[in-house]
Amino acid sequence: MAATTGAEPPGESIFTWGAPPLKFGAGAVDEIGFDMAQYGARRVLILTDPRVNELGIPARVADSLARYGISSEIFDGCHVEPTDDSMDKAAGYAREQGPWDGFVAVGGGSSIDTAKAVNLLTTDEGGLMDYVNQPIGRGRAPQRQLKPLIAVPTTAGTGSESTAMCVLDVLSLRVKTGFGHWRLRPTLAVIDPLVSLTLPPEVTASAGMDIVCHALESYTARHYTTFERKQPEQRVTYCGSNPVSDLWCEKALALIASSFRTAVRDGADLEARSNMMLAATFAGMGFGNAGVHIPHANGYPIAGMVKDYRPRGYPQQEPMVPHGQSVSLTAPEAFRFTFPTAPERHLRAAALLAPGQETLNDPAEQLPSAVIGLMRDIGVPSGIGAVGYTEADIPDLVPGTMKQQRLLATCARPVTEEDIAGIFAASIQNW
Ligand SMILES: NC(=O)c1ccc[n+]([C@@H]2O[C@H](COP(=O)([O-])OP(=O)(O)OC[C@H]3O[C@@H](n4cnc5c(N)ncnc54)[C@H](O)[C@@H]3O)[C@@H](O)[C@H]2O)c1
Ligand SMILES: [Zn+2]
Repeated sequence: MAATTGAEPPGESIFTWGAPPLKFGAGAVDEIGFDMAQYGARRVLILTDPRVNELGIPARVADSLARYGISSEIFDGCHVEPTDDSMDKAAGYAREQGPWDGFVAVGGGSSIDTAKAVNLLTTDEGGLMDYVNQPIGRGRAPQRQLKPLIAVPTTAGTGSESTAMCVLDVLSLRVKTGFGHWRLRPTLAVIDPLVSLTLPPEVTASAGMDIVCHALESYTARHYTTFERKQPEQRVTYCGSNPVSDLWCEKALALIASSFRTAVRDGADLEARSNMMLAATFAGMGFGNAGVHIPHANGYPIAGMVKDYRPRGYPQQEPMVPHGQSVSLTAPEAFRFTFPTAPERHLRAAALLAPGQETLNDPAEQLPSAVIGLMRDIGVPSGIGAVGYTEADIPDLVPGTMKQQRLLATCARPVTEEDIAGIFAASIQNW
């Protein structure tokens, strides 16, 4: 508990932690009919993206629903890295074809986040920008009880199946942002490692780096006791690092250490795939409550201001920096910056992520070196230079980061524009 002298405002003494019930294991997808029937749903919308739809997983969900007398439709228009526009279109479709008693999201974070937005926009009042965080949106809190949402992740990455977050690109502002509220959290997460066997190595690598950043950022986040004391109505989803989130982050890092390289190299290795799916959910249960900080805050303008980078393994119609790449590119330098705030946590995280790593002369290098070693081995770009940015872009990137105050507030030390510019400059090429 934070010590107080009486003169200063008392520090926070309370943390919150939440997660949905989970169903995990091979074949879990085919039990969704039973699960949805428990909520009394009769008519359900399945949301997915075109590639995942072609794999036939949404059709299996529809079959399972039908076995329990639940009718369903498949909407396969979820945009990979969703935008305000794509979420509005999905919500428009759901409104026209509705009403629905529940939703099933089948896909990566893009489809799961789209389903969260559709659930909100078809149940509560207002438009997307009413809910997006200030200062980008109006930061309104959802008021109504949302419909049941079962989330079925097909990537091992975002952990969106267990978080209360929804992330999108606001096209007119060229900025990626998000919002969080406990009402957005899926009702049930159904995680079936078998559905991840078809992930291309590039998506495995990028989504896996998202897990790494979720775990490391929330483990090194500002401790919950160092925030100002809040009133119950002021509590936010991200409350800072706390003992329960820490447990999940540590376990996620150990799973990453044992299985990430194998999952990229040999996508058919079911044990490695299962461990990656577990790690993604575990890290989601960590960061989804503790919060993420600089690497994610930087990832938003890196993705939102993309030039003409088109990564292998992803849809090629539009340029994009996939979320997992965008958040990892400045991570090594960000952890050099945060090292003095909690050296022992950075060292412990490095030891979990790279168990056999030699002890370096400069302890501040231990974690950046573990992250860089992993990035090199799995073939993610070496820095923001490799996705198209130069020194000249830094003045444009910095304001995009500074807009992510919700995330920067979770950093364990104050962050200035100069700090962020320095982190971008040192991240043009990490090796
Ligand atoms: N809500 C949260 O808590 C949260 C957290 C982190 C990231 N995100 C968001 O999630 C999005 C990224 O999601 P993602 O990384 O999971 O990927 P994604 O949903 O964007 O999918 C990436 C690509 O992989 C394909 N794919 C998905 N599953 C597949 C499978 N089993 N086999 C073959 N191909 C498959 C998709 O069709 C797509 O082309 C971003 O918008 C990001 O900002 C959300
Ligand atoms: Zn992320």
